[in-house]
Amino acid sequence: MHLTAIPLRYIAASDHKRYQDKMIRLETDRLIIRDHKESDLSDYHKWISDSDLMYYIDWKTSSVEESQKDLIETIKENTNPNRTNYFFAMLEKETKSYIGAVGFTIKSKKVNTGIAECGYFLMKKYWRKGIVVEAITKILEFAFEELNLHKMTASCDKENKASEKVMQKCGFLKEGELRKEKFHHNKWCDRLLYGILKEEWKNQKLITNHCT
Ligand SMILES: CC(C)(COP(=O)(O)OP(=O)(O)OC[C@H]1O[C@@H](n2cnc3c(N)ncnc32)[C@H](O)[C@@H]1OP(=O)(O)O)[C@@H](O)C(=O)NCCC(=O)NCCS
Repeated sequence: MHLTAIPLRYIAASDHKRYQDKMIRLETDRLIIRDHKESDLSDYHKWISDSDLMYYIDWKTSSVEESQKDLIETIKENTNPNRTNYFFAMLEKETKSYIGAVGFTIKSKKVNTGIAECGYFLMKKYWRKGIVVEAITKILEFAFEELNLHKMTASCDKENKASEKVMQKCGFLKEGELRKEKFHHNKWCDRLLYGILKEEWKNQKLITNHCT
């Protein structure tokens, strides 16, 4: 299936340069983490419509049109002066291939601080290489240092061991367990809640820097 970029009628031509100028771009050893753009549609659709990848998540799309609608909303946030959604594309630095998406939504914002919830999705070919831990480590730095948030939360289905491990490896602490919280695949599933405070992240960073 060939997908074209989002037609300009969805994003006014006058807004186009603004989108490009304000794009956030972060880097790690192996990754480029940047704001989404129209030309990501084909890759975006690949993961967001993948039933295996979205097995534990309700967000899945079932058509290119739905994926496109979702991507447009994501891109519109890039220039929102009251931006609350930071959902980035993850690219492998070496090949520049789009390999997944990672980011967070600010749930509660007070003057100069706030709480956000993060999420992450990685194409199957790249699983079990520590990529998402690397990405979330950078995302935490951005959220705490650039945006001055005071807490990042994350949650996952109790059966989603890979996701729980990512949270633990990134220093999140378990805050609770919601019993039979989500109806998934014909059964009620428990949900795990994790969180990390800015001060915990800072201490963790100090220890890591001290040990290396
Ligand atoms: C969850 C997900 C993002 C993890 O990405 P990843 O880059 O493979 O994770 P990492 O390689 O950083 O692995 C983190 C840890 O989880 C472990 N892990 C990975 N897959 C696992 C699995 N299926 N079962 C148990 N542990 C697993 C890894 O071994 C690693 O631990 P280790 O370093 O001690 O070996 C990826 O599996 C994914 O995209 N899943 C589908 C989408 C999803 O569920 N997102 C989370 C929504 S809440």
